[in-house]
Amino acid sequence: MSTFVTAQEAASPSLADAIANEARVGLTSTPKTLTPWLFYDEAGSHLFEQITELPEYYLTRTERSIFSAHAEEILQEAARGQGPSGKLTLIELGAGTATKTGILLAAAVRQQSSIVYQPVDVSETALAEASENILANIPGVTVRPQVADYTRQALPLNRLPNTRTLALYIGSSIGNFTPIDAGDVLRNLRAQLLPGDTLLLGTDLAPGENKSVAALLAAYNDASGTTAAFNRNVLTRLNRDLGADFDIEKFRHKACWNPTESRIEMHLESLAPQTVHIPANSIGSAYTVDFALGETIHTENSYKFTYAAVDALLSSAGFKTTRSWQDPQHLFAVTLASAI
Ligand code: AVJ
Repeated sequence: MSTFVTAQEAASPSLADAIANEARVGLTSTPKTLTPWLFYDEAGSHLFEQITELPEYYLTRTERSIFSAHAEEILQEAARGQGPSGKLTLIELGAGTATKTGILLAAAVRQQSSIVYQPVDVSETALAEASENILANIPGVTVRPQVADYTRQALPLNRLPNTRTLALYIGSSIGNFTPIDAGDVLRNLRAQLLPGDTLLLGTDLAPGENKSVAALLAAYNDASGTTAAFNRNVLTRLNRDLGADFDIEKFRHKACWNPTESRIEMHLESLAPQTVHIPANSIGSAYTVDFALGETIHTENSYKFTYAAVDALLSSAGFKTTRSWQDPQHLFAVTLASAI
């Protein structure tokens, strides 16, 4: 399955091989694809941070507003049925720098006076930044960062007696996966939880009465061109990391809504017939990639959910929805589900 991971900085030998492999597999497929985790080199991670602050990109600020309005309730609901000495432990998949998580951690400290927080991410530097921010700003939190790829490895759940785990998978990160792969990710998580543990899942909602397709498209095709730069940066990365010779100017950012699959797709469209060369590397010999005029590389899917689709996904993975929260406009949903 394809995997979504956040910023990786150190080009460790296995990372270099993974990049070479993803490029070779994706660029020699029909249609051409690249996996979204390739976006997140240093420049790409920075561009993503900028995206989260764009006026058109409502996702991050809307999810944050849901946490601000409902953190208390979310934590209370997750702790329900807990014995008097029992406490919640928080684990977060793909935590990154954990900027939104602080709202939930502060509420947890108010509720149970202290909390153990285990952010899991592939980026060591993102985790260091997360730990530093949280330790400096939220007394009562014990941070136990773990560098791991949660899509492949078992989660490091060091469970204390009388604790219940609340797993956070927020930010619409699940939206990068096809329904089948999303089910795999959640089943893998479920396998490491106990009945009564909970998952808090953040999902972007499908267009409808309250969200137009135009507004959704604008979030992925902003006026400032930041999303275009984010998308095209993957080619800059392949030039740098693989020695490829993509002419970045000859590719255009394209975002479209696929109603059948209920997803936004991002593509890079070739503005000319052209041939790109990728030199030999540790995983194989040199190859070329031919583009026809108008041909695209499919670089990302971002699935948008109905409430029914969220429930179906959760139940297919061994969870049962307990409650969901959303902003007044129903742009984004945060769903709490318990492991059954
Ligand atoms: C990080 C996967 C949630 O799909 O909205 C933002 C990535 N791509 N703009 C999303 C993204 C283009 C983002 N996720």
